[in-house]
Amino acid sequence: MIYLDNAATGGRKPSGVISAVRSCIMLNANPGRSGHKLSLAKAKQVLACRYALNDFFDGFGFERTVFTKNCTEALNIALFSSLKSGDHAVVTSMEHNSVLRPLEHLVKRGVSYDICPLEQGNVTVSGILKRINEKTKAVVVTSASNVTGAIPPIEQIGNALPKGVVFIVDGAQGGGHVDISMQKSKIDYLALAGHKGLFALQGSGALLFSDRVSPSPILYGGTGTTSNELSMPDFYPDCLEAGTLAYPSVLSLLEGLRFLTVRKEEISQKTEKLTSLLIDGLQKIDGYTVYSKPNPCGIVAFSHRKIPSEDVAFLLSEEYSIAVRAGLHCAPKMHEALGTLESGLVRASFSYFNSPDEVKFLLRALEKIAKRI
Ligand code: ALA
Repeated sequence: MIYLDNAATGGRKPSGVISAVRSCIMLNANPGRSGHKLSLAKAKQVLACRYALNDFFDGFGFERTVFTKNCTEALNIALFSSLKSGDHAVVTSMEHNSVLRPLEHLVKRGVSYDICPLEQGNVTVSGILKRINEKTKAVVVTSASNVTGAIPPIEQIGNALPKGVVFIVDGAQGGGHVDISMQKSKIDYLALAGHKGLFALQGSGALLFSDRVSPSPILYGGTGTTSNELSMPDFYPDCLEAGTLAYPSVLSLLEGLRFLTVRKEEISQKTEKLTSLLIDGLQKIDGYTVYSKPNPCGIVAFSHRKIPSEDVAFLLSEEYSIAVRAGLHCAPKMHEALGTLESGLVRASFSYFNSPDEVKFLLRALEKIAKRI
């Protein structure tokens, strides 16, 4: 199979990640629970991963780095901690349902929000600032659109926000692909999905938060600390990590970050070149419209004038064994903004492990599909 659905989840993992995960399957222990040597060794790796994440994203300390099941859980903690009845939030048309659905739930609790539209396919600082009012407590912006790969100006937005407005960044699609510094961009919450640009397994979400915010748990349970107390510990990271950690996923994240850190530039350049190759090729085939510009997130969205997106993806899978994702990509407002809510789009998404030959094979397949009409 030619796997071009890396924006949904990274299809291939570095060998260091694979061997780290294999070691957990051979013999594992629960970090932070028992006092024996193996449990302590695993706890050390968990701590190393907190440090690695904090360094990579220029965060606010290893104790302000918590592991979650996925980016959605991290965003839920950020949103539920930031907004209460009477508060207002600003989000953008690019946001995923992982932001829009918790917000819609918060609307039932008296929260309101505005959606900042895009200008020429991207978010603008002025568009965000225009929608902030005296009740605005949070602004949520994705680090990259999961539909087109467009990259909002995170640093400029963070530095333009008024004091007292919490800045929440959804790092699901940009994490690992674009430079994100929490300190430089004044980010209060950075939610991450380890399994995409960070080369880790599913189950390796994380939330990093600044010293300006004090998030509260949305899950309650054992932490292996202050076990005589029936309430949650009052310190981070423990109070946000109820229950056993997904240790194999955390370890994969540590190895993924190690892989990424030493070849960040190379990875971004290679991935962006693949998007350019596909965009250039699609523009030469009659019938296709492209919705992406070359980008380091590896995303190219397109449609065919006459063939529904779902059919293009189906034919690619069934007849050419090429995996892409079609439809709305859980980002309905982005498709509304692009005018593709009805038809959806086909999204091919590359990782470091894809090659120009795979892009050429995809282009030949798309040409043949178009010629059938
Ligand atoms: N949010 C992921 C995607 O864009 C799953 O496909």
